[in-house]
Amino acid sequence: MLEVSTKEKLKDLEKRNEDAFLGGGKERLTKQKEGGRLTARERLVVLLDPGSFVEFDRFVTHRCSDFGMKEKRIAGDGVITGYGRINGKLVYVYSQDFTVFGGSLSATNSRKICKVMQMAIKNGAPMIGLNDSGGARIQEGVESLGGYADIFLRNTLASGVIPQISAIMGPCAGGAVYSPAITDFIFMVKDTSYMFVTGPDVVKTVTHEEVSKMDLGGAQTHNTKSGVAHFACEDDKHTLLMIRELLNFLPSNNIDDPPVLPAKDRTDRTEEKLNSIIPDSSKKPYDMKELVRLVVDEGYFLEVQQHYAGNVVIGFARLNGRSVGVVANQPTVLAGCLDINASVKAARFVRFCDAFNIPLITFVDVPGFLPGTNQEYNGIIRHGAKLLYAYAEATVPKITVITRKAYGGAYDVMSSKHMRGDVNLAYPTAEIAVMGPEGAVNIIFREQIAKANGDASAKTKLVDDYTKTFANPYKAAELGYIDEVIEPSQTRIRLIDALEMLKNKRDTNPPRKHGNIPL
Ligand code: HXC
Repeated sequence: MLEVSTKEKLKDLEKRNEDAFLGGGKERLTKQKEGGRLTARERLVVLLDPGSFVEFDRFVTHRCSDFGMKEKRIAGDGVITGYGRINGKLVYVYSQDFTVFGGSLSATNSRKICKVMQMAIKNGAPMIGLNDSGGARIQEGVESLGGYADIFLRNTLASGVIPQISAIMGPCAGGAVYSPAITDFIFMVKDTSYMFVTGPDVVKTVTHEEVSKMDLGGAQTHNTKSGVAHFACEDDKHTLLMIRELLNFLPSNNIDDPPVLPAKDRTDRTEEKLNSIIPDSSKKPYDMKELVRLVVDEGYFLEVQQHYAGNVVIGFARLNGRSVGVVANQPTVLAGCLDINASVKAARFVRFCDAFNIPLITFVDVPGFLPGTNQEYNGIIRHGAKLLYAYAEATVPKITVITRKAYGGAYDVMSSKHMRGDVNLAYPTAEIAVMGPEGAVNIIFREQIAKANGDASAKTKLVDDYTKTFANPYKAAELGYIDEVIEPSQTRIRLIDALEMLKNKRDTNPPRKHGNIPL
């Protein structure tokens, strides 16, 4: 009988591991690194705490024998899966290895990914996917398509249970895009990643448009035009570090509370600058992001979808060390009007925060929904309703600060008292009414204005009267729709206090299979 010594067995294991680490071979690994890209394994080293990665299924291979594939078996089969830690917290990961069959997805490849996804769901830890793949493994045909569907199903079942994060670090084409699309956040690497349902060649055949890969689906496109991606990062390393940064704000699952980090900023910090940040003229813009930064811990605001629908600002910050989701109208872009893109952007964020127990802080300065045929024809009614729905169903602590305008339906939508806002504050500069003074006067005093025969002073007087009566927070405060009119310099103190007061908030929605958000 052949006897193999333990030493030899250990050596054999070492050799097998070395082979697996080589993926598609030295040449392809070198090619991968050209242009500053990291290999699939190097990416995991940057993403995870040092030494924390534990790999599963290193020796799994595909089972395809068509097209000479029997002879081409590579340990791991083009995806590295396992678990590790980010700032000490458990996460599950997969990292597609472009050097092995272009990172394409085989049936076994999908089984590996589904295995870790299932563990992530069971153990309540975030799932992070690093995508770098030529799509379905062509040699495997429909088996590969089935593999994708298995992943999509798990993405859907995990949605709202564990945070799911995707990084696009190379190609991501065809139906493959739908796994990242279901996840909560998509990071893209500038210049080296792209996502599209059909590539430039198909586009040219079908629509006769000539477009480059990057123009069609690069980081810039998806962060500015389509709103598919949430972050555009400089390179692989920056992308992975940003994922670590984002995870600092998130709980591990929908039952956990978000992390509370020791706060370095004072809880009793007043901010005199806030008393003068709102311009005297209500037509003048100011930067809402500056206001947010003046309020939150150490002025740190992790903005999400920074380059898309800038009229609404969303992102994470901390108040006394607690994670909060910030939603704010931005008067510097479209005067802060809500349009289709802004509504959808904010709605998805509100739902994410609600799913993961992250309190919502809403800063309101909104003249209304954006008028126009473009908006109406494209369904502002349906899309605006998404934001309304998201706020209405959210049961996390909701604190609202109306800094200036809160007009019309947009007043209702932006976490108003009527949408179960818990604490609704307003600055003395707030204007809460059905519409702005000009528009209101034009409608309710139409006859008087006509009779005045072009006498501008008559209209000015009516506008002034309306402004005095309605363009303030006190009508709403009289009705209890605003809990307190505060001096802006006190914003941080009031928010921290309200958050503490709402710490144990319990609220539920009626039992149902699921609601029917106007998609
Ligand atoms: C098998 C693939 C592959 C695939 C690439 N490779 N894509 N093998 N299945 N889908 C292999 C190549 O044969 C090559 O092998 C290696 O990966 C690197 O590919 P290159 O073409 O040399 O790399 P590059 O020039 O950088 O181009 C990358 C690429 C291109 C743009 C991704 O490979 C490409 O167009 N691939 C096909 C993409 C595609 O049409 N996929 C199907 C999409 S439909 P060697 O041995 O030479 O290194 C889809 C449906 C999903 O995915 C549906 C889900 C519901």
